[in-house]
Amino acid sequence: MTNEKFGGIEACVFDAYGTLFDVHAPVASMASQIGEHADAVSNMWRQKQLQYTWLRTLMGAHAPFWQVTGEALDFALSFHGIEESALRQQLMELYFALDAYDDARDCLNALKIAGLKTGILSNGSPEMLEGAVSSAALATVLDQVISVEEIGVFKPDNRVYQLAVERMGVAGPANICFVSANTWDAQAGAHFGYQVARINRYGLPDDNMPGKPKVLLESLRELPEIVS
Ligand code: LAC
Repeated sequence: MTNEKFGGIEACVFDAYGTLFDVHAPVASMASQIGEHADAVSNMWRQKQLQYTWLRTLMGAHAPFWQVTGEALDFALSFHGIEESALRQQLMELYFALDAYDDARDCLNALKIAGLKTGILSNGSPEMLEGAVSSAALATVLDQVISVEEIGVFKPDNRVYQLAVERMGVAGPANICFVSANTWDAQAGAHFGYQVARINRYGLPDDNMPGKPKVLLESLRELPEIVS
């Protein structure tokens, strides 16, 4: 089945963690040291990281995503009875320098050739986004790397999605194709008014929440044809 084309797109804006960068790569590369609970540690690390962002936003207690990421890892390690500061440090170093998924690089290259503006809109703190963008060598195919730190609230607060409209210099949210593999982020972006492509990295159905992505893609490689 061919996907319907999006109309009026001036910019493609990507979620970072889980969409362009594989958040499970750090634990995967240390799995032999972590042992049988490696997958569970990685999943709990991610879930707690997200929960803490939502809770901190509701509490009015923002902290940079790098700190939240470390606090979530501490919880996941402690829950699994792992007390190793060297391992914690290695995992955080790996998280700082994540590589991009192969389809991410191909997609961004094609979008630039098609003349579209490209950007990241992420919870990530500026330094960690810079670390990942530079270790994945994506700087030349990204026009903007936008961090929520500019406004001090996390996704899915609408002020975050509005920030990308301003920073990408487009007329309105409908001129942005927002791309996320996180169901809740894709749906919140659609609810805000973006045209949304959700990438099906995790084989999950939509959440039972407002907002409907326009397409569900198996890979970022399918994106350029839809938006250009
Ligand atoms: C981000 C998180 C949600 O990059 O993955 O914003």
